[in-house]
Amino acid sequence: MLSQLYAEEIRKNVYKNLMSSQTRKVLQQMSESEIAGMLENIMSVPINFSDYKISGDVYRTYFVFCWQTVFQKLNITQSQPLVLEIASGQSDPVPQALEIYSRGSGTYVTANLNKELTRGMLKKTDSLETEIEIIEDNAGNLEDYCRKNKFSLAAFQHAVNDMIQTIAAHQNNIDTVNNDWYDILPKMIEIVDNYFQKDKLKDMVYEDFIEQIRVCSNLVEKDGFLVFNTHVFQMDLEAGYSRELYKNFINLARKWILKSDLPLIEKDITGFEKQWWLFLQKI
Ligand SMILES: C[S@@+](CC[C@H](N)C(=O)[O-])C[C@H]1O[C@@H](n2cnc3c(N)ncnc32)[C@H](O)[C@@H]1O
Repeated sequence: MLSQLYAEEIRKNVYKNLMSSQTRKVLQQMSESEIAGMLENIMSVPINFSDYKISGDVYRTYFVFCWQTVFQKLNITQSQPLVLEIASGQSDPVPQALEIYSRGSGTYVTANLNKELTRGMLKKTDSLETEIEIIEDNAGNLEDYCRKNKFSLAAFQHAVNDMIQTIAAHQNNIDTVNNDWYDILPKMIEIVDNYFQKDKLKDMVYEDFIEQIRVCSNLVEKDGFLVFNTHVFQMDLEAGYSRELYKNFINLARKWILKSDLPLIEKDITGFEKQWWLFLQKI
């Protein structure tokens, strides 16, 4: 269903500025159902970008579309909304969606530790009218920068794995701030997967993870949302993640968070599969 709606948006040229001319040309020659089919192909498990120039553009704009849909379905204010993202790296679907949804009137804040990826994010969001603030610190320290109950929504776009990898890296003295993220990625995956295989993942990372969620929950207004998603990249399986762990990061987050004492309840949102998406509302 989402893929059909995405195809309709593509037809309306909503994302033309977020795609190369080559991708635009290819998509212009396709029918809506062909576009939907192509998207479903790209988003299959695992995601294996065959022709990155085109499939990378489709992936990116699909998630822009998803986050716009999330903002609409959750009724986030369209006038000057405040949205937080955790562990964005240089991946920009959330700020791009906010730009379109609020017509540039919103504020986007992200906590992101890795310096090089922060530079990439600044470049990608440079031309947006949305106010962009990148806090180069751990999400667990966000209360030092932001007042409580400030945000309508906290977004975790494919971020549970990033948060867990970063916790594990810091336990093993790996510098996630100054290193190239992709140079240290195989080592981080090895450590996390090793915790998982030895049934030690919860013992090792739960406390830090739930503390970060607690902080985000404090920063979101009452009735506001924490929204998580995940997907499976072939590249990360090849780098060493077991499929069983990697495809279940949302289920893991769901189990840990809902069993904690945090004032969050799960909401079912039509069109979003629970395997890949988690919607928590602050009560
Ligand atoms: C690969 S990028 C993330 C991309 C994005 N989540 C996505 O997959 O579309 C990983 C980023 O998460 C950041 N990160 C992970 N845990 C974090 C935390 N607790 N606080 C701030 N940044 C964090 C890292 O510093 C890094 O810049």
